[in-house]
Amino acid sequence: MIKHLLEVAEFNKTRIDQLIVSAEKMYTLVKKRGGDERLKHKVCVNLFYEASTRTSSSFEASMYRLGGNVISINNVQFSSVAKGETLEDTIRTLEQYADCIVLRHPEIGAAKRAASVASKPIINAGDGAGEHPTQALLDLFTVYKEKGTIDGLNITMVGDLKYGRTVHSLAKILDNYSVKITFVAPQSLEFPTELQATLTNTVAVTTDLEKSLKDTDILYVTRIQKERLEDPSLYESLQQQYVISKSILKKANPHITIMHPLPRINEISIDIDEDPRAAYFRQVSYGLAMRMAIFDDLLLH
Ligand code: NCD
Repeated sequence: MIKHLLEVAEFNKTRIDQLIVSAEKMYTLVKKRGGDERLKHKVCVNLFYEASTRTSSSFEASMYRLGGNVISINNVQFSSVAKGETLEDTIRTLEQYADCIVLRHPEIGAAKRAASVASKPIINAGDGAGEHPTQALLDLFTVYKEKGTIDGLNITMVGDLKYGRTVHSLAKILDNYSVKITFVAPQSLEFPTELQATLTNTVAVTTDLEKSLKDTDILYVTRIQKERLEDPSLYESLQQQYVISKSILKKANPHITIMHPLPRINEISIDIDEDPRAAYFRQVSYGLAMRMAIFDDLLLH
């Protein structure tokens, strides 16, 4: 059976814990030797219909660090997509060259559609406002690296919780652990109620960010998803609503860890970047290790 990676519902705690252990080994491998050759002669296609810096380059770097190769199609307007080729035909073509396909697409469910015609593993690298499962795995690895545990933490998610696929996937995958989640969002960008209803962890919803930061262990900040707003003219005001500043942090739990999937626009002021509690660039390096672990799991096990 082909092992796809399409949504976080595929993961149980045992599998997540195995990936975290494997990512820890990959992290050390990169630090000590840069990588190894275990994916020699393996080829992956990165097929990105939406903008990306970290996700595309970290999947690419992960293949290289394990001895594999990547065909990168990051500019679909220069591919047959511009001629009107369907996603299905593009997948059925590219899989002839490769051992797996990493897909980012603006439509919810696109990765599942691709998987339904694919005979090689499809990795969902973000499907519109749907899910971003590999980001959720690297986020969990980051929490584990920063805090040494996941259970028992108070996790506050702030920003665009409606369209932000990273928070959808993270909130879901956290159901494998016992945490408290607090959602803080502008009025029109709240976490989807139907999704919230499926969560088993304790959830609080508030507009009072400062108050919730007092007992927050992990603050997960997200960008307003400008490209998905129904009314883009609201963007500026939405973007100003929750900004993590030095003065807000003074009132927060002193042991808070700040995460962000990036790109950051203005939702975290840059004068916090040097604060040791700002983990978002470390999060990028944990992401490389987790994606190496994912390739190892999908292509060698
Ligand atoms: C996120 C995404 O693409 O969903 N970025 C990422 O993958 N690290 C977050 C975002 O674009 O805001």
